Amino acid sequence: MSRLIVVSNRVPAPEPGTPPAGGLAVALSGAMKERGGIWFGWSGRTLPPGQDEPEAPELVESDGVTYGLLDLGERDLDDYYAGFSNRMLWPLFHYRMDLTEFTRVNLGGYYRVNRLFAKQLLPLIRPDDIIWVHDYHLIPLAAELRAAGLQNRIGFFLHIPFPPHDIFTVLPNHADIVRRLAAYDVVGFQTPPDVENFETYVRREGVGRRLPDGRFLVYGRAITVDDFPVGIETQVFATTAASANRHALVRRMRESLEGRKLLIGVDRLDYSKGIAQRIQAYETFLTLDEMWRGRCTYLQVTPKSRGEVPEYVAMEREVAELAGRVNGAHAELDWTPIRYVNRTVSRNTLAGLYRMAHVGLVTPLRDGMNLVAKEYVAAQDPEDPGVLLLSRFAGAACELEGALLTNPYDVDGTAGAIVRALEMPLDERQDRWRRMFERIRDRDVAWWRNNFLEALERPAPEATRPGKIAVVR
Ligand code: ADP
Ligand code: F6P
Repeated sequence: MSRLIVVSNRVPAPEPGTPPAGGLAVALSGAMKERGGIWFGWSGRTLPPGQDEPEAPELVESDGVTYGLLDLGERDLDDYYAGFSNRMLWPLFHYRMDLTEFTRVNLGGYYRVNRLFAKQLLPLIRPDDIIWVHDYHLIPLAAELRAAGLQNRIGFFLHIPFPPHDIFTVLPNHADIVRRLAAYDVVGFQTPPDVENFETYVRREGVGRRLPDGRFLVYGRAITVDDFPVGIETQVFATTAASANRHALVRRMRESLEGRKLLIGVDRLDYSKGIAQRIQAYETFLTLDEMWRGRCTYLQVTPKSRGEVPEYVAMEREVAELAGRVNGAHAELDWTPIRYVNRTVSRNTLAGLYRMAHVGLVTPLRDGMNLVAKEYVAAQDPEDPGVLLLSRFAGAACELEGALLTNPYDVDGTAGAIVRALEMPLDERQDRWRRMFERIRDRDVAWWRNNFLEALERPAPEATRPGKIAVVR
């Protein structure tokens, strides 16, 4: 078996404690556990002022994985991470053209840091390694590695949605981004609609087409493009949830509910997650249905995220004010309708909270997959499962057909769906849950990893072996 090198912007340093919130870190931690290899990327630390580049990555061994951790300079982080990645690609790929900010300075930083990643990674690569690059921060990485002569198989997986043609072409350098994407051997998206959007893009722009063998010819290179829906460690999480009542925090939470039904939301503080619309829907539900007042509690666990990006700072204020206003308007002396908590919790606690909740509120305005939806399902008690209320705009909606689907832009509709979820009979809950659980059990994180790596390790037919990729600077 070839050695695996995983590359992602964020690499959770192998330290004890609660891992960072975020689908990529959680999924890759699960994927790396069995297979081992090198996991290379940003350490989360900033270089001292005056130093632009790290000398070499810090190498840390832990549990069969070698972590290659790069500290980045402040200017690089501003331009590449906060700037081009999180103020241009992230909002655009989540269909939020209104929130994008494109600058040449940020774009330059994006390419510069991808070159830096390539330069620092190259000395670690052996000829028969396979390389798996993750997410929108690092689209140009393969082209940089190829420009240095690397012939290894390189795959790319996009954790976020790939937008429709009309939205993607708002990106001034869209052609160059897709040209660089074509330097990979396998490009993976979360769902079939993402693949369709990509196909429409290459067709309309006249830069590629689907080949009779199912692969794509893009900018003259034959590559595999497919959907590989990311999964979770389903059995591990289910087992953790079943025994979570042991933990004092979980028990205290249950006692504090005093028999009320729990609704739970767990999301990074991100505008794509639809948290404000969710709170509005919950308020509408409280005003529509008097009988539920005082009989349920909505817990929203939301760690702060990307505080260096102005849109996130604005959103933090908006959500805190909204939660405060709803509580002010509806609370009783002995009942608080919303518990709004800005922190991460351990995996054990999280599993216990999901299991305790009668309704899992997963209502993003747009999401690549949404692992919280799968975690909520995995954590349920098969005898008395809760109901997953899921946005039709989450990638997970393509898979979890037992969920109660909702349109988060329709606040009244979502309020009605909350009532339906809370009142759903046991046999319907069990039937819906079973269908979802079977799916996430069969397609867990190991399935995702193996499925992708099989596609990546499959040798390319002779006639279409990769040629030289020109990097346009
Ligand atoms: P994203 O990648 O956009 O953050 P996902 O739902 O796919 O969204 O993944 C989020 C991951 O982060 C999940 O595994 C979830 O359990 C974890 N997470 C989110 N919020 C918290 C929190 N408050 N405490 C601990 N883990 C969290
Ligand atoms: O899942 C999308 C994603 O951007 C991941 O790449 C990342 O781990 C997660 O969200 C959290 O974001 P960040 O790394 O910017 O804190």
